[in-house]
Amino acid sequence: MANPGAKNGNGHRNGSSNNGYLETLEGEEALAIIRRNLKSSAMDSEGTHFDGNFPHVFVVFGASGDLAKKKIYPTLWWLYRDNLLPSATKFFGYARSKLSVDELKEKCRPYMKVESDQQEKFEEFWALNYYVAGSYDGRRDFELLNQELCKFEVGKVANRLFYLALPPSVFETVTVHIRNTCMGQKGWNRVIVEKPFGRDADSSNALSNHLSKLFTEEQLYRIDHYLGKEMVQNLMTIRFGNQIFSPTWNRNNVASVLITFKEPFGTQGRGGYFDDFGIIRDVMQNHLLQILSLVAMEKPATCHPDDIRNEKVKVLKSMEPLTKDDVVLGQYVANPNGQDQDSRMGYLDDPTVPKDSVTPTYALAVVKINNERWDGVPFILRCGKALNERKAEVRIQYQDVPGDIFDGKPKRNELVIRVQPGEALYVKMMTKSPGITFDMEETELDLTYGHRYKDVKLPDAYERLILDVFCGSQMHFVRSDELSEAWRIFTPLLHYIERERPEPIKYVYGSRGPKEADRKCDENNFKYYGSYKWQPKL
Ligand code: NDP
Ligand code: BG6
Repeated sequence: MANPGAKNGNGHRNGSSNNGYLETLEGEEALAIIRRNLKSSAMDSEGTHFDGNFPHVFVVFGASGDLAKKKIYPTLWWLYRDNLLPSATKFFGYARSKLSVDELKEKCRPYMKVESDQQEKFEEFWALNYYVAGSYDGRRDFELLNQELCKFEVGKVANRLFYLALPPSVFETVTVHIRNTCMGQKGWNRVIVEKPFGRDADSSNALSNHLSKLFTEEQLYRIDHYLGKEMVQNLMTIRFGNQIFSPTWNRNNVASVLITFKEPFGTQGRGGYFDDFGIIRDVMQNHLLQILSLVAMEKPATCHPDDIRNEKVKVLKSMEPLTKDDVVLGQYVANPNGQDQDSRMGYLDDPTVPKDSVTPTYALAVVKINNERWDGVPFILRCGKALNERKAEVRIQYQDVPGDIFDGKPKRNELVIRVQPGEALYVKMMTKSPGITFDMEETELDLTYGHRYKDVKLPDAYERLILDVFCGSQMHFVRSDELSEAWRIFTPLLHYIERERPEPIKYVYGSRGPKEADRKCDENNFKYYGSYKWQPKL
């Protein structure tokens, strides 16, 4: 797959070759290149570069909040530490709390991973940081912020990035104020938006309409951080860069597809937020559906972001909305023998969760794709909190071998794409048992990243995605029509749950989830044998 960054020839989108090039040019020649670059950034979103040494300001709205301290500032620091950002980038925090940069630094420090020899660089990073306290609804405060930003935009060109790490309640007013008072006049403006993108089809469409009145689709970057994960990005390459898989990727060969997300912890006393959303909105409607569309879409005409997203939308359009018969819903209860306090607390024991909550913390949904490639193949999405392990994976299970000559011994092949932890891709297959015997056994072709790519440091999902925004690549961001299709599929089910309040099936904290979910897999052509034994390499 064409990697926007690979064009530098050094595997990073750090713009260094671009910078170096521009530095050697002077006067009109340099300006011509600048204009060409700006024009191409504005017109196409392929994002093959960023604008080298020009000033960039990165504004974090909601800078005092949880997401900012746990994800955004640490990511900005890692990108800065690894010299991946344009050299003249300044960082602005904006929030209501009155904080100094030092206080902000203290809040973020526990999440920033600073090695002992990086201390100097770390201080350098914070010296590029500024903080402005202001309200979310006062135009004057945004005008003052804009004045601060302008001070750093020396020269003819300057670009602005706005990261909205904000609660939905202030989202609309903040975006209006950005549009009216904070848009930079000397270069591009890009707005990064975090979920939730509404809570059903209507609210999401209202939000999309609101945003589309303020910004163009090219200026909007809707983050689904699963699209920044190595193995999710690898799906395109695995599928379309290997003749071995492509011809079998269809209803003639595949029995079922299982896409799983598991977390081994519960709400940890912060269920108040979760309870309003539930696991379907939190993980399934976005992360798992995004993975599904990359697994199921047709081959795009090119690797251009819009060609890819056109195919993703097309496959989503082939799916019927889910009904109650397609799903298994669960909610975890305390494990009396749990090893820690969290596991001895059920979901309803969380003091921030209403005692009669029926919000699912586990969900399995069987999705059907009504097109020529996938007709009749169940795509099973499963996700849950407080389960037995942390895991995200895609499992393509192939059909039984037709015309079996081995007395029913062959087990189905599986291609497993392990997203996390421990990125891996393995094919479960049958082999003759080594030795004198003519028996057979299950084994695997195994590409474990930890072995094959020992010294490669895989970037965090947010690192890739924020860098993509600098580069103007929308390939790994959600387009508004994808979003509206995703809500079309899930809204009737979500409304049914809210209206009818079906009782979720209880499962014990630390278990694999409700037994009914395994039954549903079984009914949908996913076979579990329980006989496969993996021998990890030492
Ligand atoms: P298995 O056949 O053991 O499991 C297959 C699937 O069945 C999984 O989704 C599994 O977990 C599910 N399952 C487990 N128990 C049941 C049950 N009682 N009823 C129904 N379904 C069940 O094969 P795996 O591919 O999972 O491999 C086994 C182990 O080996 C895994 O930990 C895997 O990560 C590891 N492995 C790692 C490799 C690597 O890193 N390179 C290569 C090969 C294997 P669940 O439903 O709980 O998600
Ligand atoms: C978020 C969900 O989008 O993804 C969280 O809101 C979940 O509930 C998280 O824990 C999982 O992300 P990751 O990258 O840790 O798998």
